[in-house]
Amino acid sequence: MDVQEIKNRFGIIGNSPLLNRAIDIARQVAPTDISVLITGESGSGKEVFSHIIHSMSPRKHGPFIAVNCGAIPEGTIDSELFGHEKGSFTGAHEARKGYFEVVDGGTIFLDEVAELPIGTQARLLRVLETGEYIRVGSSKVQKTNVRVIAATNKDVFDAVKEGKFREDLYYRLNTVPLKIPALRERKEDIYLLFRKFIADFTDKYRSPSVQLDPDAQQMLMNYSWPGNVRQLKNIAEQIAVLEKNRDITAEGMLNYIPNESGNNLPMRIEKSSKDDFSERDILYKVLFDMKKDMVELKKLVAEIIRNEGNSADFSSHQQAINQLYRDIELPQSSAGSNDQHTLTIHQPKSEKNYGRMDEAHEVEESLSLFEKESDLIKKALKKHKGKRKLAAQELGISERTLYRKIKELDLN
Ligand SMILES: Nc1ncnc2c1ncn2[C@@H]1O[C@H](COP(=O)(O)OP(=O)(O)O)[C@@H](O)[C@H]1O
Ligand SMILES: [Mg+2]
Repeated sequence: MDVQEIKNRFGIIGNSPLLNRAIDIARQVAPTDISVLITGESGSGKEVFSHIIHSMSPRKHGPFIAVNCGAIPEGTIDSELFGHEKGSFTGAHEARKGYFEVVDGGTIFLDEVAELPIGTQARLLRVLETGEYIRVGSSKVQKTNVRVIAATNKDVFDAVKEGKFREDLYYRLNTVPLKIPALRERKEDIYLLFRKFIADFTDKYRSPSVQLDPDAQQMLMNYSWPGNVRQLKNIAEQIAVLEKNRDITAEGMLNYIPNESGNNLPMRIEKSSKDDFSERDILYKVLFDMKKDMVELKKLVAEIIRNEGNSADFSSHQQAINQLYRDIELPQSSAGSNDQHTLTIHQPKSEKNYGRMDEAHEVEESLSLFEKESDLIKKALKKHKGKRKLAAQELGISERTLYRKIKELDLN
């Protein structure tokens, strides 16, 4: 099949050299079992390419599963991918097959692969190199035959340099790199794509056809398309459904795409709407930062639980958590010092050492720490026969904080 035939078959629109090159690489690598790392911005077509590769491989009649690694909580991802045994963690009432077991003979698409926790990366490397994996809570080594296509919109090599992504796994996945160009790098495809999407959507919604005047077309071309083809598709859908004036000018286009620093529009129309955009930008940023904080927090908590029994690490984690709490400024129940934000973590005296298999269990426990605060305080007090100084020490908080908490939680 040549590049044009692939485009027809998979509904790929565009004719830029960068896109054609990507299709050609996909075509060549498809018949092999080689892992592919697809990089490209969000909405650029990474998932589409994973389908192309699978459908043109000898595995095409086998199963295909797309897994968004960034959307699965760190605590359950091992179990999702590799399965678990009954009773291997709280809530594991039944044994469950993981994707690598279910997809035996097929292809797994690991989207946002840079988000995989380090422990899961080790398991992934093993299954890639030997086909072997172990269910969470089991000791039996099982075999599977799965081809992995991974994707990321981040620079994984940066993650490698920061120690967040295993270098050996990076090279293993990246045997054949496939870069999907951003829409702004293939401006010649933008209007083609728009025409295709508008035709599809006016057909779907039985709405009248849409024309863009030259200025409006120019505006499409000059826009930066941070959401790439997905964003273009959404905008075409909005226009197909909402636009009353079917002959669209640049000014009409401003209802759908923001005017970026005014340079994508002819001078005469430069105006307003810039403000809404920056306000929305700020909102996005706030949301994004919040998500980042949550992720950081989850990682920290998981790490602390993993290091349970290692008292050397403990106080530094406690400090890090406290700092994080100060940074994200949780709403306070009453005005007070920074101490208000102190999250207390129980450091068990036992040398219990959870293995890596128990990650799912660990996180589940850790998340409930928030609610277990008073429980822990009671236990610590009981253990030290009401001696607050010792209890506070064990809880890793100051005596003063303990006094306050006892009062707040009404533990007297
Ligand atoms: N070249 C293309 N031609 C037509 N549609 C495309 C093209 N590239 C992407 N799309 C469409 O754009 C949307 C986003 O693509 P997707 O593969 O999900 O992006 P990503 O995985 O990179 O976020 C999908 O609806 C897809 O069908
Ligand atoms: Mg995607």
